[in-house]
Amino acid sequence: PVKVTKICCIGAGYVGGPTCAVIALKCPHIQVTIVDLNKARVDAWNSPDFKLPIYEPGLVEVVREARGRNLFFSTDVDKGIEEANLIFVSVNTPTKKSGVGAGFAADLNYVEAATRRIANVATSSKIVVEKSTVPCRTAESMRTILEANSKPGCRFDILSNPEFLAEGTAISDLFKPDRVLIGSLQTPGGRDACQSLAAVYANWVPKEQILTVGLWSSELSKLAANAMLAQRISSINALSAICEATGANIDEVANAIGYDSRIGPKFLKASVGFGGSCFQKDILNLVYLSESLHLPEVAAYWRQVVEMNEHQKRRFAKRVVDTMFSTITGKRIAVLGFAFKADTGDTRESAAITLIRDFQSEKAYVNVYDPQVEDEQIWQDLQEASPLVPLDQIKKQVTICPSAMEACMNAEAVVIATEWKEFLDIDWEQVYKRMNKPAFVFDGRLLIDAERLRKIGFQVTTIGRPN
Ligand code: NAD
Ligand code: UDX
Repeated sequence: PVKVTKICCIGAGYVGGPTCAVIALKCPHIQVTIVDLNKARVDAWNSPDFKLPIYEPGLVEVVREARGRNLFFSTDVDKGIEEANLIFVSVNTPTKKSGVGAGFAADLNYVEAATRRIANVATSSKIVVEKSTVPCRTAESMRTILEANSKPGCRFDILSNPEFLAEGTAISDLFKPDRVLIGSLQTPGGRDACQSLAAVYANWVPKEQILTVGLWSSELSKLAANAMLAQRISSINALSAICEATGANIDEVANAIGYDSRIGPKFLKASVGFGGSCFQKDILNLVYLSESLHLPEVAAYWRQVVEMNEHQKRRFAKRVVDTMFSTITGKRIAVLGFAFKADTGDTRESAAITLIRDFQSEKAYVNVYDPQVEDEQIWQDLQEASPLVPLDQIKKQVTICPSAMEACMNAEAVVIATEWKEFLDIDWEQVYKRMNKPAFVFDGRLLIDAERLRKIGFQVTTIGRPN
């Protein structure tokens, strides 16, 4: 097997950035260059005061140690490709917005562009690693493109190495992954390439946690893992609706079923709905794959996981309106949290976006606060959610606040949309004094101590518990 000495990662996003920064940290003998076409993003990765383009606990420390030593960020994609003997393709694969499979299929345009670039530029043999999440058998298309465009004497081996990190815990997930999965063709060349990549991870990951499988299994395992994880959340959220209607308590139910060692306690937290760039996109991708394989029942099964999530978001917004005497017109609602989960500034598919859009259409005023999300991002997301409403109209209805306390000022209701720890330390007595009465709190994250707030005087509504 080839010894990996220089790595290039195409795509300096939420996955490429942290993943390859950690590889550089753990493998000082390997030169790692992360390239991207987005100059602003690359500049941010290179910023002298470490104002990185993404917020992730522990990331700054990693970049501080490795950057300039054996970790480099650049817009020179061609040079990065040329120099490396192993290339990660870590570009975005969003859901297609138009054309065949619109709304379901993955848009493979960026993967193909990166692959063609590799084929055009490379003058020596490369191991090309699919890091992006892609439909099953994408590696086959990549191989065809590479082989059809390669220069004489250039050999390309394709591997699949999906990423399982979760945002907010990316660095600890990368330091101690549950497993690293590498898929390759079961040919001598494929197995050798697989060994080369495995040797990189073996610098810090125990060998028994590096799983090597066939290419198609590897690609499908990524979609399957996300579908199963999201399915657990939709299952617990479906049960939360039954709890609210019957008097059962979703925390008690989750705890009771989680004690079954076959089910396990993790990922059973009822919520206002899952968000993030992966779950919905990857399930829809799986739905599309199932449909293209003429498996409509399989497609319908997975599609329901996403539909349940949509239902949960709508149900929560409706419960807010119902509880506030069936109208929130002209009322001020404080939405705490805008990111799709705590410890990230990422807002992709965040439930907060849907909630605020629903409150806007009920003609409420919204105060929003998030400790990490940039104002520009909030405006962009709200504009995309209501494309027919002009931005200055949105800005008349929505105010971005610099703190949770200011967001709650003179509000009629507080809605917790993201489980930021700092919301536990809010001075709720002060908040109560400054709100209109009755003062409502809606906890979409099972975060706060409802009994304590009720003692202060709040009317508290919690997911998965009756009012
Ligand atoms: P992202 O949008 O944050 O980053 C992708 C980057 O690729 C962008 O900066 C873009 O400018 C760059 N890019 C696109 N085409 C390019 C090209 N031809 N040449 C150079 N750069 C190019 O996306 P992400 O969240 O990092 O996700 C990347 C992939 O990883 C996706 O397939 C996603 O499904 C998968 N994934 C994401 C997560 C996650 O938590 N975000 C976790 C596991 C897997
Ligand atoms: C997910 C997968 O966990 C990760 O393995 C994959 O690589 C990328 O997709 P991510 O989307 O970053 O990671 O975060 P995750 O922690 O999975 O949370 C996704 C959403 O589900 C968030 O909105 C979160 O708040 C929600 N969630 C999670 C729940 O509502 N309840 C839970 O019990 C867990």
